[in-house]
Amino acid sequence: MTTRIAVVTGGIGGLGSEICRFLARAGRRVIAADLGARAERIDAFRAEMAEFDGRIDFEPVDVADFNSCAELVRRVEATHGGVDILVNAAGITRDASLRKMAPEQWHALMRVNLDGVYNMSRQVIDGMTARGFGRIVNISSVNGQTGQFGQTNYAAAKAGMHGFSMALAREVARKGVTVNSVSPGYCRTAMVMAVPEDIRAGIVAQIPVGRLGEPSDIARTVEFLTADDAGFITGANIPVNGGYFMSF
Ligand code: CAA
Repeated sequence: MTTRIAVVTGGIGGLGSEICRFLARAGRRVIAADLGARAERIDAFRAEMAEFDGRIDFEPVDVADFNSCAELVRRVEATHGGVDILVNAAGITRDASLRKMAPEQWHALMRVNLDGVYNMSRQVIDGMTARGFGRIVNISSVNGQTGQFGQTNYAAAKAGMHGFSMALAREVARKGVTVNSVSPGYCRTAMVMAVPEDIRAGIVAQIPVGRLGEPSDIARTVEFLTADDAGFITGANIPVNGGYFMSF
């Protein structure tokens, strides 16, 4: 069977690193793409991934920068071959109620969370359609479905990611490429642990399953959506939120 090449943006992050592990265990060659600035963070990631015997590599990228994404994909293609699987997991929060939200908080978030999805997808889409296979998974959020106090920027970007997924899914459906989003609920990541304790406790109390999600809950879903035999699922959003928001 062909070894699929997977690029995971935000690959060092709370969800991204677990997604890398799951895809590597499923036999994919994984490139964790993340900001190249903090050497100690990258070294720690490399050490953690040593058990995968080189099946998980690190490559620097700034998803907010179109050219940086183009260069990343060129490097991956030169070293490994075409990108078969793209997981857009890079994301930030800049929480503030709208009345306090500065333009920088709005724009910084949009550039990473939404422009990043365009910047990366744009680089890989021609190769995927030409080869007749591709899987794109956008890591959205339950807060894009429900909205959240202090997150007009984040909710707009996360809802926007799914609009992007549906539109692109239609464009490439005949070419063996699927585009889906996964909407995690509150998971045990640094991003969620940064929410003030009392607010977080109030949220956890509303999760029917009675706990925060684990990164593995999300990674398992991404592995499923990116499988070779998942070709009939496209333009879908898979909620993974412990029942926090139920819809159909
Ligand atoms: N719901 C309702 N009212 C709220 C509220 C809430 N969650 N938070 C604050 N308020 C109220 C306050 O009680 C206060 O009321 P009074 O003026 O009557 O006293 C008023 O709103 C305060 O408004 P401020 O604009 O001053 O808000 P703040 O600066 O105190 O706090 C905030 C705003 C920092 C955004 C804070 O609400 C917060 O941290 N919220 C959590 C946001 C959150 O859940 N983020 C998720 C991050 S993780 C993630 O995003 C991952 C994922 O995908 C799930």
